[in-house]
Amino acid sequence: MIFGATGDLAKRKLFPSLYRLYQEGRLSERFAVIGVARRPLSNEEFQKNVEDSVLTAVGEAGDISEFITHFYYHSHDVTDSSSYLSLKEMAQKLDTQYSLAGNRIFYLAMAPEFFGTIAEHLKVDGLTDVDGFKRLVIEKPFGHDLESAKQLNKQIRKAFSEDEIYRIDHYLGKEMVQNIEVIRFANAIFEPLWNNRYISNIQVTSSEVLGVEERGRYYETSGALRDMVQNHMLQMVALLAMEPPIRLTTEEVRSEKVKVLRAMRSLDGDMVEEFFVRGQYDKGVMDNEEVPAYREEPMVDPASNTESFVAGKLLIDNFRWAGVPFYIRTGKRMKTKSTKIVIQFKDIPMNLYYKSEQTLNPNLLVIHIQPEEGITLYLNAKKTGQHMNATPIKLNFSNKGVHGINTPEAYEKLLFDCMRGDATNFTHWDEVALSWSFVDKISEVWENTKAKNFPNYESGTMGPKEADQLLKKDGFFWWPVTDLDVENC
Ligand code: BG6
Repeated sequence: MIFGATGDLAKRKLFPSLYRLYQEGRLSERFAVIGVARRPLSNEEFQKNVEDSVLTAVGEAGDISEFITHFYYHSHDVTDSSSYLSLKEMAQKLDTQYSLAGNRIFYLAMAPEFFGTIAEHLKVDGLTDVDGFKRLVIEKPFGHDLESAKQLNKQIRKAFSEDEIYRIDHYLGKEMVQNIEVIRFANAIFEPLWNNRYISNIQVTSSEVLGVEERGRYYETSGALRDMVQNHMLQMVALLAMEPPIRLTTEEVRSEKVKVLRAMRSLDGDMVEEFFVRGQYDKGVMDNEEVPAYREEPMVDPASNTESFVAGKLLIDNFRWAGVPFYIRTGKRMKTKSTKIVIQFKDIPMNLYYKSEQTLNPNLLVIHIQPEEGITLYLNAKKTGQHMNATPIKLNFSNKGVHGINTPEAYEKLLFDCMRGDATNFTHWDEVALSWSFVDKISEVWENTKAKNFPNYESGTMGPKEADQLLKKDGFFWWPVTDLDVENC
């Protein structure tokens, strides 16, 4: 059952992902999807919506007419028990019609204020009384801060146990985010160096070109810190920093990630200003078109203090990472859409190839999460010619080049994982709680002090200059997120 079936997420991601799973033969022939939403629609109208969204996403779809017959629609009031009772009846009929085992997945793809109410109704009105499994998939934001997240968790835990709850962080479904672990733990050459003896700093950037679009109302209550840092950015850091799990089970992987989040130095008072930078976009010209400032966006307060950009320095206080800064940076209306991780290794003890002003480049391992998917390793090698000079070279691996351009979409993988009962790439409550308590310290300070210089970065740039200073203070700089040009490194 997809709650929020007429919404954007269902249309853009969920229906096309279900279709791809169907095409790949990963969905049994016996399945039914009930779209649940407020507006009245007939099954046929809903099926047409599903068809349109699939065609938009995947183009040609030969077997679409059979696929959409599995979709049904229920017009629903999320606060009204009678709605749930008729939904239950519909589901039971479909169980019989398709000879289903009674396995149910409830996907909440709608406004978060209803998550708790829906979960409670599902239990009270008997939708969770099934012979098979029951699973709740819940979209972010999971709460607004630690306190509200706890409340929400309490509510949903009345109806679902922790191992029945699948909290989505779609970054965990991305091919190259999943690859972090494999790169680290399936190669002899990285893991021995993966610590404070050899790594000088790690940079995680997730920049976006788009502004807040139609989401001003939500974004005003969230900002980049809650929207991106609390979840996606900290999850990537946890995967980069965790110890090798003893095996790849959900429990073991999650428990290693939890340890990282626990070891993250909590920021109090003045430390926030020292370790974190916030920004808000001003108007600018992107792709030859003028774009408005954040404060001019629909549903945004013209004097808004909300940050559309965050850069920060994280310290992980454990044996492996003591002294190694993890820099994170994310924002909207930046120069380019790119998510990249740069692991910068320490300089070698001395440079034998020193010539005039030339210094050796540090070795870098770059993990390209999106839009390109791949890995680049930057090394130094002999410059062809008479002299023994060193010059930077790069070893490039493109995931798409090897595995084809249709690597599965994040949602496709996550939906499939949920059907199989594998929660490894979903966030456990402990991770959510620790991430909120880290982020809450920052938002407390920011909410109590007006940002001095907003808006402070022009649309189409890489953020405010303070973000550069954050690294400069430590003797570093942000490596470019566009393809690193070795000549200019
Ligand atoms: C979402 C945020 O979680 O992630 C959005 O709410 C953001 O504001 C999006 O645009 C970015 O995801 P991706 O996959 O495009 O990097």
